[in-house]
Amino acid sequence: MSIHISAKKGDISKVVLQPGDPLRAKYIAENFLENPRLVSQTRGIFYYTGLYKGKEISVGASGMGFPSIGIYSFELYTEYEVDTIIRIGTCGAYTTDLKVFDLINIDNAASESTYAKYAWEMEEELMPHQGNIFDIINETAEELSLNAKSCNIHSSDIFYRKNPEIPEIATKYNCPAVEMEAFALFANARYLGKNAATILTVSDVIPTGENISADQRQTALKPMIELALEAAWK
Ligand code: ADE
Repeated sequence: MSIHISAKKGDISKVVLQPGDPLRAKYIAENFLENPRLVSQTRGIFYYTGLYKGKEISVGASGMGFPSIGIYSFELYTEYEVDTIIRIGTCGAYTTDLKVFDLINIDNAASESTYAKYAWEMEEELMPHQGNIFDIINETAEELSLNAKSCNIHSSDIFYRKNPEIPEIATKYNCPAVEMEAFALFANARYLGKNAATILTVSDVIPTGENISADQRQTALKPMIELALEAAWK
């Protein structure tokens, strides 16, 4: 047990898929894993472990934002000997060059956040993916004939804001979209010498207001889930 995860040591696999939403973790476990076992449900943050093509894989939620993914990823890496975390989430596109349902594999996360500075004394605004799982995801996407573009992401603390302009940091680092977790995940992995990747599906296009409806979400996220599972299986 760790402070925020009640699974026993050994009940979580070396590779963890991490959606933001606990119910998405439940959906993935129940629909994509064989013999899924619920190993933690502290605070309603579900963690399951099951088999994918014979390999043990865990899937559990990160919650939303840097504080939440910062806690869960740190405890997974340090208390459960997890080697690799693949975040699977959604993002908002700043540009109409991206369309809803597009899949992206994150190269670097750019952020105004002080998370990495105050947690690990890392001063950089740009935090790279960690280890070789990013490359494995790209190779796997090609094998599955999935178009997963590699790009940078703006990792923000903010979902609602007054000013509709694209934030300066997103322009500075060529980030076509925004989410709220990758920067802290990459910072934790970097500090601990672990592997971390982030795959995102575009759920909304900010300039047009187009978005994936609640009904469409389950099917929309299927290619991302399959890509993450296949990469985790390797
Ligand atoms: N995740 C999905 N859409 C988002 C948005 N518009 N801003 C931040 N995170 C997001």
